[in-house]
Amino acid sequence: MKALVLSGGEGTRLRPFTYSMAKQLVPVANKPVLVHCLENLRDIGVEDVGVIVGGHAAQIEATVGDGSQMGLRLTYIRQEAPLGLAHCVALAADFLGDDDFVMYLGDNILADGITEAAEVFRATRPDAQVLVTKVSDPRQYGVAEVDQDGSVLRLVEKPSTPRSDLAVIGVYFFTSAVHAAARAIRPSARGELEITDAIQYLVDQGRRVTAREYDGYWKDTGKIDDLLECNREILSRIDGRPAQRAGAEIDAESVIVGPVVLGPGARVVRSTLTGPLVIGPGSVLMGSTVGPYTAIGRDCVLEDTGVRDSIILEGAALQNVRDLRGCVIGRWAEVRTPGTPDTGRQLIIGDHTRAEVMA
Ligand code: DAU
Repeated sequence: MKALVLSGGEGTRLRPFTYSMAKQLVPVANKPVLVHCLENLRDIGVEDVGVIVGGHAAQIEATVGDGSQMGLRLTYIRQEAPLGLAHCVALAADFLGDDDFVMYLGDNILADGITEAAEVFRATRPDAQVLVTKVSDPRQYGVAEVDQDGSVLRLVEKPSTPRSDLAVIGVYFFTSAVHAAARAIRPSARGELEITDAIQYLVDQGRRVTAREYDGYWKDTGKIDDLLECNREILSRIDGRPAQRAGAEIDAESVIVGPVVLGPGARVVRSTLTGPLVIGPGSVLMGSTVGPYTAIGRDCVLEDTGVRDSIILEGAALQNVRDLRGCVIGRWAEVRTPGTPDTGRQLIIGDHTRAEVMA
């Protein structure tokens, strides 16, 4: 079985980060979402992976390379514009050939892997197998109507009045029958070739299309709140044994409570760290109170700062700011409280940024 990973698209819901980085490279628990995805594919024994890339292609290639470090062979396939998930299947037709394949949306995290789903697909080989899960607001997803034996009756993309509460998760298994479907459909009202329409086409042609309920943890990380929730969940799974702090320096005045991972060269001075928490290599924390549920990238500097429940990307510097919560701070960003109250506040903030300041 091959895999097709969708790592193009625009990521408008994750602005401002997606102005300068692919949304699939935003880190969750200090690991890019795309790497979480590729690890799941490796775990089901896939070797050949086609990766659809758009405007941030170079960054994606620089991050995951040829895949050999993960035991994968990656083939990059360029998509000039985000014309839809079924457009990605059509673009990858030569790469996929007649093989069965799993299509994985590169911004989805399935924290409990896809082993069971892959086994069922391999054993039963329907023409399409989707994964579904119950959600409270299905309107933002593909929605499936499924009969009692797990056959899909109907799929609709982001319906305004959903007929079920089963959202389609971003991992799909296909035989080569999907290629004719991807060629047959027309763009939707929003101008995309929808994979839901291609699967509906298979249903309408009398092909076997099944749905399996995913009972692990799943999140589409395409929005800030979902990204933070996913970060909390993945962090809650780390064990943070003392061995995971080898190569870091922690002074005698610092206190560490709960699972805390510190990368090599990280330095902790007069600080209180409460896990679950991961801190990247080379980061320096001084006089700070950090965690729980926080991921700090590499080479960050935190001085006299309090932060919890947040994602801080590589190289960010926080100085003298208290009680930060639910934050996502971009690469090499600086946040500080002015030295004296009468110097005013200087904000240099990119497009579509959100900031809260004291009155
Ligand atoms: O997360 C599950 C949902 O994902 C499903 O329930 C929906 O049925 C499915 O359409 C999809 O909806 P989204 O609106 O979340 O899709 P998004 O535009 O975020 O694209 C998903 C991934 O595919 C993302 O990594 C970007 C990539 N992509 C997207 C498009 C439209 C491409 O690589 N090329 C594209 O043309």
